[in-house]
Amino acid sequence: MNAKQAAGYRAAQLIKEGMTVGLGTGSTAFYAIEKIGEMVANGLSIRAIATSRASEELAEKYNIPLVAAADVDRLDIAIDGADEFDPEMALIKGGGGALLREKLVAVQSDRFVVIADSGKRVAHLGQFKLPIEIVPFCYEWTLRLLRSRYNVAIEMRMNGNELYVTDNGNYIADAAFGKIESPGKLSDELKATTGVVEHGLFVDIAQMVIVGYDDGRTEVIEK
Ligand code: A5P
Repeated sequence: MNAKQAAGYRAAQLIKEGMTVGLGTGSTAFYAIEKIGEMVANGLSIRAIATSRASEELAEKYNIPLVAAADVDRLDIAIDGADEFDPEMALIKGGGGALLREKLVAVQSDRFVVIADSGKRVAHLGQFKLPIEIVPFCYEWTLRLLRSRYNVAIEMRMNGNELYVTDNGNYIADAAFGKIESPGKLSDELKATTGVVEHGLFVDIAQMVIVGYDDGRTEVIEK
């Protein structure tokens, strides 16, 4: 068992009969979805919302019943990966481009559980480039504004020779902050920027981080 698998499988144990579950995106969330699929095959009855087309397809493959947002008030739990987490459980997410749907699902959940291999633990966020989802219309202006405001390298995410397009039809700019001194302040600033749809800083959203290690151990950190 590898570290991501250990964390994903451990998180699946939190799922109980009748729950409405948010399914994350990425290589760690994959293992949680795989295990939940196994539990469903063994008779567990739940309903789920996926945070990306990829995870939706995975849920369908494992016969996990998907439900429309209109039929859900709150989710009991959401389980998702992260690119970095700090001692306050602030996160950088969006390496896989699903940050907007991931944040929508996370904030709608009574419990947001992060699953991560131990390499994602950092003292300060920012070594991982912060994904910023921006609208395609006049994106050059938004990019220019962000570059001049923060004076750090910010590059448009590419998909081969084309600009990368999210599941929501937007673009992503990846910002190399290096060290983010105040994630809460940066989060608010970005959120208030015209042209920015969402960003990958998740501050005060996670209540639990399940850390997986290469020897299959897990560590549960709770707020
Ligand atoms: C997807 O957009 C991301 O937020 C992922 O949750 C994050 O990149 C972690 O992915 P891995 O589990 O593949 O490292």
